[in-house]
Amino acid sequence: GEAKHYEHQHWHFNGPFGTFDKDALQRGYQVYEAVCSNCHGLEQVSFRNLGQKGGPFYLEDCPAGIPDTVDCSNPNDNPIVKALAAQYKYQVVDGPDDTGEMFNRAPLASDRFPGPYANEQIARMANNNALPPDLSLITKARHGGPDYIYSLLTGYEEVPSTVEVGPGQYYNPYFHGDLSQALKPEYLDEEGHPVEGVHVPLGGVLAMAPPLADGIIEYGDDSPQTVEQYAKDVTEFLMWAAEPKLEARKKLGVMTIIYLLILSIILYWSYRKIWSKVE
Ligand code: HEM
Repeated sequence: GEAKHYEHQHWHFNGPFGTFDKDALQRGYQVYEAVCSNCHGLEQVSFRNLGQKGGPFYLEDCPAGIPDTVDCSNPNDNPIVKALAAQYKYQVVDGPDDTGEMFNRAPLASDRFPGPYANEQIARMANNNALPPDLSLITKARHGGPDYIYSLLTGYEEVPSTVEVGPGQYYNPYFHGDLSQALKPEYLDEEGHPVEGVHVPLGGVLAMAPPLADGIIEYGDDSPQTVEQYAKDVTEFLMWAAEPKLEARKKLGVMTIIYLLILSIILYWSYRKIWSKVE
């Protein structure tokens, strides 16, 4: 079946000069932490990454009250990162200890994000047998990237009248599925094909309920507390998670073009100069 084509968004990180919007990254982290982390892991990301240059909580200088022996630009010593790790809602499994036992402890800046489920069976049991994918690389893994993620999060709709959706399943026009399998019996012929004239709606059904709703997260700035803004911010955060070096990559690209331009001018000029002596 066909899915609705994702809508293009204006992203701060688009284009050759694109950078991440630090405020959006911080709000996006808040959305991930408050909502998405209840079901999705982020296992390729360490807390310390949040405090690296270009990351959501990077600090060039320490905030007031931190002794100046501390280097806050070092992600392991960044006080915001340390606090976010220490207060995180899930613990990491460590060990074995002296007695050979594994134990849980609060994460450190150097730890990766612990996920919500101990293993795949438990994850499926909690999600109607579907598996919530790890979100570390999701903006790279899906066709349409961030535009698709944003469209999916904001695009849930009423179930079309021709379609029957089972318990724990939700209709989304942007999700790739085959709704010809989900048509109500009266719209199917004996062979299970759609009856003439019945059109199969775009999209599919998935096991993720609409995760966002207006007002569910309180932002510390005056950004709108809407599904659209939450989706925009968390997608930018997930884009950063998947490509933390995007800014450096784009900067190198621009410098390379400038270098090549200058080189071309010099070459052209010396060519003219050399050949000007030839009669
Ligand atoms: C699938 C993002 C919150 C459960 C997905 C997918 C994305 C995503 C991108 C993959 C869709 C695809 O395959 O194309 C997010 C984000 C969230 C969020 C950004 C927070 C804003 C949640 C929550 C739950 C959940 C809170 C559980 C209550 C699932 C499940 C799937 C899924 C079970 C697999 C669905 C299926 O394949 O049928 N999510 N999610 N998600 N998510 Fe979420």
